Formats: sequence, structure tokens, C-alpha cells
Amino acid sequence: MIIILLSLIITLSLSTIITFLLATRRKPGSPPGSIGLPFIGETFQLIAAYKTENPEPFIDTRVSKYGSVFTTHVFGERTVFTADAESNRFILQNEGRFFESSYPGSIANLVGKHSLLLMRGSLHRRMHSLTMSFANSTIIKDHLLVDIDRLVRLNLDSWTGRIFLMEEAKKITFELTLKQLLSIDPCEWTENLRKEYMLVIEGFFCIPIPFFSLTYRRAIQARKRVTEALHLVVRERRVEREKGVKKNDMLAALFDSDCDNITFSDEEIVDFLVSLLVAGYDTTSTTMTLAVKFLTDTPSALAQLKEEHEEIRTKKGASMALEWDDYKSMPFTQCVVNETLRLSNIISGVFRRAMSDVKIKDYTISKGSKVFASLRAVHLGQDNFEDARVFNPWRWQKTSDLTNFMPFGGGPRRCPGYELARVALSVFLHHLITRFSWIPAEEDKLVFFPTTRTQKRYPIIVQRRNVVVE
Ligand SMILES: *[C@@H]1O[C@H](CO)[C@@H](O)[C@H](O)[C@H]1NC(C)=O
Ligand SMILES: *[C@@H]1O[C@H](CO)[C@@H](O)[C@H](O)[C@H]1NC(C)=O
Ligand SMILES: *[C@@H]1O[C@H](CO)[C@@H](O)[C@H](O)[C@H]1NC(C)=O
Repeated sequence: MIIILLSLIITLSLSTIITFLLATRRKPGSPPGSIGLPFIGETFQLIAAYKTENPEPFIDTRVSKYGSVFTTHVFGERTVFTADAESNRFILQNEGRFFESSYPGSIANLVGKHSLLLMRGSLHRRMHSLTMSFANSTIIKDHLLVDIDRLVRLNLDSWTGRIFLMEEAKKITFELTLKQLLSIDPCEWTENLRKEYMLVIEGFFCIPIPFFSLTYRRAIQARKRVTEALHLVVRERRVEREKGVKKNDMLAALFDSDCDNITFSDEEIVDFLVSLLVAGYDTTSTTMTLAVKFLTDTPSALAQLKEEHEEIRTKKGASMALEWDDYKSMPFTQCVVNETLRLSNIISGVFRRAMSDVKIKDYTISKGSKVFASLRAVHLGQDNFEDARVFNPWRWQKTSDLTNFMPFGGGPRRCPGYELARVALSVFLHHLITRFSWIPAEEDKLVFFPTTRTQKRYPIIVQRRNVVVE
């Protein structure tokens, strides 16, 4: 009996191993690499690396061993990893032709099936351009800037003593996003919605074992409550609209697209809003926090930035509100913004799937292969930027070569909010720098898993400056 059982076990495990070996056998012409342990692959190595302040060795060692395009096995699947600028551009620009975006089911459940992330083909093109034309520079200049400026100032009004910059930045970007999407001003309702949202966001990053994770289940429940709350808003707004009340926000743009023969159900609209909230909220607030951290750690850059913003303040006299012309007269700020985006890489890369056999470099990526185009690896590649791992905003005064710089991705899926993010960050830096001085309250450091952030939410002690306006 025992022998039968034993041989059964041996046969079973042998067949498992053989199946695994067959499934993960390197196809001829595919990029070299190692795929680590069965099933788990190199996921743990990746996570361990990204939990430290310096995850680069994970990529560096593989790049030096196999070249800038290599094969690994992460998050349950054999994956072609590219750290090569040209290959990344090729992948992003051939969206819908050779590659399509491809995300795990656990993410799909959280962002909703009607999100930009999961849309494809002509619907994606339509919605992408709708979002783009809602957040382009004309619209920001004419409508959105006023609210960005007002809400940033309003938030800073209440800052005293010790604050967690990451938390405060999140509050700001959430309020901004709700205002832009739905014309809703900050209140108790928005703050409650934000708390639910934080639970949803947490759920994104337990990808490896979705069904066993409490965080994930909690996220799904929170998402349901968020959806219900937004459904109510959408329903009310439909009623208002029928009565002829006009508003100027993303929801109105979605309603108006009805005229183009695409009508969206409430469910589709809510899904779409939920995903835009995710996109606008976490990324921009992290960038704000990291910009402040990089500046704090680089006093000469902070001093030069201060000078630029004090000059703007002096010119404006007693008027507190920033205008478009002010935004356009911050050349060094734009260097700081680019350098922060380059170095922080909030979205460290994008997942795609090959739609047919594709040639990249000298390799063949076979149809159906998962591909991870790492934006981070390119931004931090020493061949692409001089002293690539150092915060050096002045580099942007020298170079006009932007070919290796893709903080917002590229191609048809480039983040439609890129200009909005730049403006929000610039306005935030302006008011922070002219109104406060600060010191870090504790040592804090960057980590990159599950998301890019600082370990302690970047606690700082702020002090109001009284030199600003006469
Ligand atoms: C921005 O979009 C609006 C329509 O929403 C359009 O009229 C305007 O020309 C666009 N501006 C730019 C700079 O693309
Ligand atoms: C919308 O539909 C109407 C009739 O159903 C058609 O005449 C019109 O050309 C369509 N418009 C667009 C932009 O597709
Ligand atoms: C910053 O990057 C953007 C591209 O994302 C570019 O258009 C702009 O010119 C850059 N600014 C500076 C100061 O280099």
C-alpha cells in the first residue's frame, strides 16, 4: 500500500516537473535568462530587491549577464524583461499591432473592466482621446488651474508642526481629482470616500495570491462601496443635466460623448471614474512627496528653486493665486519635475503580451509571450543618462534629448494626465516653498515594493515663513 502510494507520489511529482520543464523550456531565439524555481520563478528575488532602497542589482546583474533584454519568471509567468530604451519604445508604439496591454485578473477586478487600462482597440482610442482632450494644456489653463491652485493653498493653510507629507499629498491629489472629475469640493463625503479608496489601492499589490489575501478581499469590498457612492453621484447628475444644469468636468464630458453615438451606461461611467481616480491619486501624490525628499537631500537644488519661486512671488505682490503665465515662467522647476519623474518611476514599467511572433533586437518574442517594458531600468541605465542614479536637475538644462525619457509611458497608451500631473506638482512646490521651511522629522527611506513610496510616509516638521508677501 505504502509502496503504491509512494510510487504514485513520485510519478505525480515527476510529471509535474516534466510539465513545468516543457512549459518553461526556452523557445529557440528567445532572450536568454533564468527562470528560477518552478511556479514561483524569480518573484521572491524581485520582491526582496524592490523592498530595499536599492533594487537596481536585480536588474543590473541580469543585464550584465544576459544583456538588456532577458527572460525571467515573475508573478506566475515567464516574462521577457526589457531594460532597453529602443525596445521599450517599439513595444509601446506598436500597441494594438504587435502588443496589447495585459494585466492579471486580480487587478482587473479592482480597476473595473471599463477602465482605460483594460480597454482595447477603437474604444480605447476613443476614451483615451476624450480623457486627453479633457486634461490638455488649454483646458488646464482655462479651467483646471484655478482649482488646483485654490485646493493646494487651502490644504497648506492647515499645516503646522509635524506632518506626514505622503498623507497630506494624498489628500491634496484626491481632492483635486474629485474636483476635476465630478466638480465636488472637499467635504466629509470626499474624506470618507478617500478612506475607502486607500483600501482599494492596497489591494492592487497583493497580486501573487489574490484568493487567500485578506487585503485583497477588503479591497474588493471597499471598491463596491466606492462604486455605490459614485453611482449616486452619476444618477443625480443625470437628473440635473436633464434640467439643463451644465457643469464643466470629466463627467459632463462623458455625458456629452453621447452625441457621438457612443452612449455609456452608468455602470461604464462609474467604472471609468473609479479607474481615473486611481490613476490621478496615488501617482501624483507620491511624486510630490519624492520631489520634496530629493530637494531636501540636495540643498543646492532647493536653494535655486526657492530663488525662482520667490522671484515669482515678488512680482505678484499681494495676489496669492498662481496663473498660467506664472506656471510658464518656472524653468528650473520644470528641470526638478523631470528629474523627479526620471528618478522616482512611480509606474516602473508596463506589462504587454505579444500578439504575434515579434523580433526585438536579435531575439524572437513568440506569440503570447508576456513582456515587461521597464521604464525604470531605462531611466536608471548608465548608458542612457550620465550618473543616472543621482538626483541632478541641472542635467535638464544641458540636454534636449528626450528619447530615453518616458515617465508617462508612450504610444497610444501614454498617460493622458501627464500635463495635469506636471502642473499639480509645480503649483504644489511653489506654495510649499514660498510658505514653509521644513526639516525631516526622522530618517526615512525609499522602497519600491509594493509601490514606490517612503517607508514612514515622510514625516517632516514644517515652519511657516513670514518673509513671503509684503
Ligand atoms: C484641448 O481640447 C479641447 C477640446 O476639449 C480643444 O478645443 C483644444 O484645441 C485642445 N487643445 C490642445 C492644446 O490640444
Ligand atoms: C450617429 O447616428 C446617426 C443615426 O443613427 C447617424 O446619422 C450619424 O451619422 C451618426 N454619427 C456619428 C458621428 O457616427
Ligand atoms: C521635461 O520633459 C518633457 C517631456 O516629458 C519635455 O517636453 C520638457 O521639455 C522637459 N523639460 C525640460 C526642462 O527639460
